[in-house]
Amino acid sequence: MSTFSIVGLGKLGASMAAAIASRGFKVVGVDVNAHAVDAVNAGRAPAQETDLGDLIAANRERLRATTSHREAILESDVTFVIVPTPTDESGGFSLQYAAWAFGEIGDALARKHNYHLVVLTSTVLPGSTRYGLLPILEQRSGKQCGVDFGVCYSPEFIALGSVIRDFLHPDFTLVGEFDDRSGRTLADAYAAILPKPPPCQRMSLENAELTKIAVNTFVTTKVAYANMLADLCERIPGGDVDVVSEALGLDARIGRRYLTGALGYGGPCFPRDNVALGYLARVLGTRAELAETTDRMNRSLAGTVLERLNLSIVHGTTVAVLGLAYKPFSHVIEESQGIALAKALSRHGARVVAHDPLASSLASHELKDHGLVLDSLHDCLRQASVVVITTPAGRSRWSTAGGCSRRS
Ligand SMILES: NC(=O)c1ccc[n+]([C@@H]2O[C@H](COP(=O)([O-])OP(=O)(O)OC[C@H]3O[C@@H](n4cnc5c(N)ncnc54)[C@H](O)[C@@H]3O)[C@@H](O)[C@H]2O)c1
Repeated sequence: MSTFSIVGLGKLGASMAAAIASRGFKVVGVDVNAHAVDAVNAGRAPAQETDLGDLIAANRERLRATTSHREAILESDVTFVIVPTPTDESGGFSLQYAAWAFGEIGDALARKHNYHLVVLTSTVLPGSTRYGLLPILEQRSGKQCGVDFGVCYSPEFIALGSVIRDFLHPDFTLVGEFDDRSGRTLADAYAAILPKPPPCQRMSLENAELTKIAVNTFVTTKVAYANMLADLCERIPGGDVDVVSEALGLDARIGRRYLTGALGYGGPCFPRDNVALGYLARVLGTRAELAETTDRMNRSLAGTVLERLNLSIVHGTTVAVLGLAYKPFSHVIEESQGIALAKALSRHGARVVAHDPLASSLASHELKDHGLVLDSLHDCLRQASVVVITTPAGRSRWSTAGGCSRRS
């Protein structure tokens, strides 16, 4: 039975660590942030995620954390690396944190006598694992990939707010492998960890790296398509995007999920993946026009809503924006459409008041020059003559998973 180590105890890493421990495996988590390590060792969640605290507390006998990469690598057989890969100035993903982590893992591998599998889970561009990170392992360990250790690229398809459930119940597992042994080891690990193992897609490192970004950008293209229909429907007397998309979604070739006319997608993943695909295409001497258009359309939605509100807003009109996180049941405001709309309204001369039950403290800081985030929904409504609701209403249950918000 394998023992796992997880490098990076953030929203995704800590959730994976707890989920794997909950399936009966020993897990050692590593983070450079001592607070995250202390939290896990005290049975608390180091990041905000549904059920994470409960799962860590319930699995303390199998789950521990350390700041020492060496300790974790020596005690485990399979390591998942889930550190940030932030967007860099060119639009690609920075490997800065991953490279540092791979260096530490390489140092530890130098002291190991048995085979070890290193799995990169962070989102990266094709070629990053093989040409950017794997050489660091070989150089620092003095060992050879494919002989002494294996390497895979294997991202997770999760949404914030349901990371644990999504990790344990994926539609498929994606295994990018350096060689057959690496891929087999990881496929076997997933088969043992997951309650109902889904189909496992094994492929080269580069195909898996591209597949991850392709999944996200395809989904956002669907969102953008629904928003294009929404714009048309709003201009057609009696037009209703929900009616149209409900019917459209019944076509098996299309499907209903992520096909909801809305304010657009946001959050830490979707927006940056389209930008990265555009960058990748330019590096390869071509264009990813669909990704660029999807991104452009998505970023223009706050402006479109503002245009439609224009007649109702004169200088100084108080407008309430309800919903500032990038999706319901979340405190994350990164690339949030509600925030973009509040800023656009303020620039247009409106007096903005806003409310969000979970995101108010982060949003207050972000909107400090643009409006007032109020703790009370009632106060917001009392002050405003125009109210914009950015969160899903009634039927649009699909949009909650995708981070898009229904336009009301
Ligand atoms: N959050 C998501 O919804 C999501 C979904 C799919 C993929 N991803 C990808 O997963 C990666 C991580 O995302 P996240 O949201 O969990 O990030 P996060 O910022 O919540 O957590 C990252 C953690 O890694 C730690 N860290 C940084 N460098 C380290 C190192 N060298 N050694 C050990 N720990 C280190 C940080 O201290 C932090 O605790 C990113 O590449 C992201 O693109 C995230």
